Amino acid sequence: MTLDALLQDIVAEMAAASDRGRVASYIPELACVDPGAFGIAVVLADGTEYGAGDAAVPFSIQSISKVFMLAAALERIGDVLWARVGREPSGNAFNSIVQLERERGVPRNPFINAGAIVMADVLLGDQSPSATVEQVRAQVAALVGESIAVNASVGASEQATGARNRSLAHFMAAEGNLEASVEDVLATYFGCCAIEMSCRQLAQAGRFLACDGLVSGERRSPAARVRQIGALMLTCGHYDGSGDFAYRVGLPGKSGVGGGILAIAPGQASIAVWSPGLGEKGNSRLGTLALERLTAATGWSVFAP
Ligand code: DON
Repeated sequence: MTLDALLQDIVAEMAAASDRGRVASYIPELACVDPGAFGIAVVLADGTEYGAGDAAVPFSIQSISKVFMLAAALERIGDVLWARVGREPSGNAFNSIVQLERERGVPRNPFINAGAIVMADVLLGDQSPSATVEQVRAQVAALVGESIAVNASVGASEQATGARNRSLAHFMAAEGNLEASVEDVLATYFGCCAIEMSCRQLAQAGRFLACDGLVSGERRSPAARVRQIGALMLTCGHYDGSGDFAYRVGLPGKSGVGGGILAIAPGQASIAVWSPGLGEKGNSRLGTLALERLTAATGWSVFAP
């Protein structure tokens, strides 16, 4: 079966699915998204692109931005980042606060909210939040090769309702793990989460992770760093659902509450899926199922010989 036909089959199966999960509603603007949407895109290591369903419809990438923030934070300060953020799976929800108190304001990993808030602080330095978000947006756009947007309404919606993230940030400030003001750090974090991309664009943006950092002869990131980011995506990219995702899909992945998932088959492909309904751990229900179908059919797995 061709990849085109396989993606069409997956779209048809997902269209017929009855349990689509629940669209996130704690960020009010995300609750307006059509739960029936489904898109999938695959970009092979050589750049060939395949897409089906709503592959060209932009959606809020939310926590998937944490992958790009991590690449940028490591580029900016290197391994000293790890003095402020851990590299272990949290086994807790993405916005959990209990562990943070026990571990003195050092988040378990860069992909839970607290970890990404620390990365926002690193990226901010002495710039303004808007300049920092613009920098991240422009870096991601350069990977995609076309312009992408930050959805200001989604950012404002989260600003207005982000008490939980504010709690995490204030707690870390109290423990001395934030340098800038809580509000500037959060404005940066919310802005990065509000980046929008289609599956097609997201799969293009992730291509450097599938190519050991070398895209069409151009080095986008050191190979060692790309492998480290992949390891963190596999172990931490789906929060307390990371083990289940690794078991079912067999690839490093990063989810967002907008319903997107970016998954990487090293040396093979960068894959993006989008279905807004989430399972109980906050990861796209049909997105995960679609990736499970795709990797079963293609044999893509980091554990395959
Ligand atoms: O901070 C939040 O809660 C959101 N902006 C991002 C969380 C998220 O995407 C979790 N992913 N599944």
